[in-house]
Amino acid sequence: MPAIFPRWTNNVPIVIGLLAPLVGAGLIFAVWYWFSPYYTDVGYRPEQPVPYSHKLHAGEMGIDCRYCHNTVEKAAHAAIPPTGTCMNCHELVKADSPRLALVRESHAADMPVPWVRVHQLPDYAFFNHSPHLAAGVGCVSCHGRVDQMAVVEMKQPLSMGWCLDCHRDPKPNLRPLDQVTNMNWDPAETPYDPDRDANRKRKVNPPTHCSGCHR
Ligand code: HEC
Ligand code: HEC
Ligand code: HEC
Ligand code: HEC
Ligand code: HEC
Repeated sequence: MPAIFPRWTNNVPIVIGLLAPLVGAGLIFAVWYWFSPYYTDVGYRPEQPVPYSHKLHAGEMGIDCRYCHNTVEKAAHAAIPPTGTCMNCHELVKADSPRLALVRESHAADMPVPWVRVHQLPDYAFFNHSPHLAAGVGCVSCHGRVDQMAVVEMKQPLSMGWCLDCHRDPKPNLRPLDQVTNMNWDPAETPYDPDRDANRKRKVNPPTHCSGCHR
């Protein structure tokens, strides 16, 4: 009687027995990693159409964030400045620079510069800048040291776990209301207790229930 299966197939069950747990562990890891706060876009730094530098304008020149992102305290979204804001200076400063060619074209054609979006939550998550700034959360807590970035980069995961970490215990992230755009404000140097700040009219109470952020 010839063998139906060749001899090596005797080892198949052993090989499967050895490999299955490894594959299983790998799958569990993949699923855990996918859903964990570690799987994120931290470090995402798209190239922009104009070599605009926050390090130069917000850092070295010290222009306040709100000069350009002027809706951030009143609205859900922080406006990206129109080209006119740039031309306030660049009509005169570096008026012939090739690095500003696209800015001049955009201004002449009355069309926005096609900036590439860096931070973007999915549609099903609700976010609004204004209550965060009104509560005294600084830009730096969520965006990092933008004043040191030549090209803007995502510094925080913007994941649900990240939002909730702060919402459960916001106090360490609160600062005096007039310091929200100051990237150099250091709580170690100027200790701050929000409960003792006479300018604060009420206690902050960020939502942790699902419908707070999924509306
Ligand atoms: C002179 C104008 C100007 C100033 C001042 C300025 N920005 Fe910006 N900002 C821009 C422009 C233009 C963009 C879009 C291009 C880019 O991403 O670099 C931008 C983009 C950003 C983005 C990324 C937006 C996205 O697509 O997700 C963040 C975050 C940001 N700025 C934060 C800040 C903070 C914080 C400050 C203050 C420390 C600041 N900016 C000061 C002009 C400015
Ligand atoms: C509590 C966290 C938090 C703080 C504080 C914060 N941001 Fe943001 N920012 C975000 C998130 C989240 C997004 C993405 C919003 C979205 O996709 O709807 C964002 C997006 C942006 C954008 C892109 C345009 C937009 O609104 O979607 C700019 C510009 C920006 N932030 C600037 C600022 C500046 C300037 C400050 C300080 C004055 C600031 N942010 C403070 C979390 C924060
Ligand atoms: C308050 C004035 C001011 C505003 C507003 C301003 N800039 Fe500037 N910008 C400067 C100065 C000053 C320099 C540096 C000039 C130098 O290096 O001598 C500069 C340099 C630059 C450069 C580098 C140019 C080169 O040839 O090296 C770019 C690109 C630029 N800015 C883009 C922008 C954009 C885009 C905006 C609008 C979002 C903007 N700037 C808004 C003052 C400003
Ligand atoms: C660094 C701290 C911090 C982070 C990070 C943070 N928040 Fe908040 N959030 C707060 C504080 C403080 C308040 C204000 C609560 C108050 O005034 O009672 C708030 C309030 C809110 C509110 C209620 C405001 C309203 O309009 O009803 C929503 C919604 C919200 N946050 C969504 C988010 C989302 C989504 C994220 C993540 C993408 C996030 N937050 C990240 C601190 C934070
Ligand atoms: C503080 C704001 C906040 C609260 C409160 C919150 N979520 Fe989320 N949730 C988010 C954000 C932001 C995202 C998007 C995360 C991302 O893009 O990685 C998200 C994503 C999700 C997702 C998509 C799953 C995934 O991993 O992509 C589900 C499902 C979800 N939330 C369910 C819930 C439920 C259920 C609750 C209540 C127990 C809840 N959320 C409370 C902010 C919140």
